[in-house]
Amino acid sequence: MTHLINSQLICADYHKDYPMIERGEGVYLFDKSGKKYIDASGCTAAVTHIGHGNEEVSRALYEQSKVLAVHPTHLFYNQALEEYLEKLCDFAPEGFNRAWTISGGTEAVENAIKIAFQYQKSRGHKKNKVLARWGSYHGNSISVLDAGGLRVRRDYYTDLMAGHYHVAPCFSYRKPMQMTEQEYEDSLIEEIRVTIEEHPEIFCFLAEPIVGAALGAAGPTEHYFKRVKEVCVEHDILLIADEVMTGFGRTGKNFGINHYGNHADILCCAKGISSGYFPLGAIIIHDHVYEALKESGQPFYSGQTYSCIPLAAAVGNANLDYIKQHDLVDNSRIVGQYLKDKFESLKEIECVGDVRGEGLFLGIEFVQDQASKSIIDPAYLFNKRVEAKALEEGLITYGCRGTVDFSRGDHMLFAPPLTLSQDEADMIFTRLERAIKSVYSTFLKS
Ligand SMILES: Cc1ncc(COP(=O)(O)O)c(C=O)c1O
Repeated sequence: MTHLINSQLICADYHKDYPMIERGEGVYLFDKSGKKYIDASGCTAAVTHIGHGNEEVSRALYEQSKVLAVHPTHLFYNQALEEYLEKLCDFAPEGFNRAWTISGGTEAVENAIKIAFQYQKSRGHKKNKVLARWGSYHGNSISVLDAGGLRVRRDYYTDLMAGHYHVAPCFSYRKPMQMTEQEYEDSLIEEIRVTIEEHPEIFCFLAEPIVGAALGAAGPTEHYFKRVKEVCVEHDILLIADEVMTGFGRTGKNFGINHYGNHADILCCAKGISSGYFPLGAIIIHDHVYEALKESGQPFYSGQTYSCIPLAAAVGNANLDYIKQHDLVDNSRIVGQYLKDKFESLKEIECVGDVRGEGLFLGIEFVQDQASKSIIDPAYLFNKRVEAKALEEGLITYGCRGTVDFSRGDHMLFAPPLTLSQDEADMIFTRLERAIKSVYSTFLKS
């Protein structure tokens, strides 16, 4: 244990002590006492696609930093970035041929919003509001917290927010019980349409293809994104896909939107884009957006110190090479399905209400009882107890809250490195099952 209360860190929890983490290797982390953990969260969360301690990417970082880490970006372009952006756009869906890099996910979303705003403004539209969804997370600056819909993270700061608009997420597990899937989808699309018509100042729709931390890997109904896109086109609104968690093979395809017909105008990327070896985020925009910006003659006012620097590009490049050379997108799909099937068997335990997700992007939702889907008393902190028990077992998990009213409801998000083998998936399953059973039996006695 390390005593954070006495360290210089601004602590998120004033009373909690944490073990000191020391090193990582593949899907494992080791703390200072030598205890070995399997990392099923992908480093809170969904960051380490290629695993810890990767030689190739570490070497690329070192080699590029020896040659050129940064340069005056207002005067020069650089070779590392040129090579990288070509590969990045090639990895993206057809029609996405322009990209720009930054330091992480929050900045990627923020800049996607700025581009969408500029796209509208340069065409003479005075629109200034984002439409996003409750039960979503898009980052931690004030403006993207505002767009996000996770009350546990945003509510404290609402006085600082401009007030973007929100509609319900597409979340079948918690749809009104009397509705069919079709009626549910219809009602969500209608809500989007009505909100846009009531608020003509809306200029973009922002959504995670599969919702990560906020809803625990909740994917949409079959035609949801196709229909959202139709409404967006009808109302001249851009669709921004937040692929910060779902990109780079996390869901068993290159990008989350690949599952649903590639309906987007701007993609936001981070996390698995560099697997954490250097802070990196990116936006990739569709040709039609780029052409409109170019035609307007208005420059994209968004340079920051670390945008488009060669060091970040070299790491992104090596990371993407590694993902492709080791077929990690396919591995995510195959081992992800294997792990999901194992998780399904956890439904034998009454508190496991739902298992969902794609590839190695999986969620488990906990409930008081499966039939009513009622939640466990939030004061019990069920998810945190499972997280703590799993840690004792040598398993790193990510316990989250907010599936019911975006502040209550327990779930866990699983996003291990995409290098995970079936044996390691078995290890995750066994340790998790023990942890859930232990916490649930204590809960029943309480
Ligand atoms: C979907 C999504 N978007 C954006 C972000 C923000 O990314 P970052 O933490 O790199 O700023 C996150 C972070 O978890 C995320 O999950």
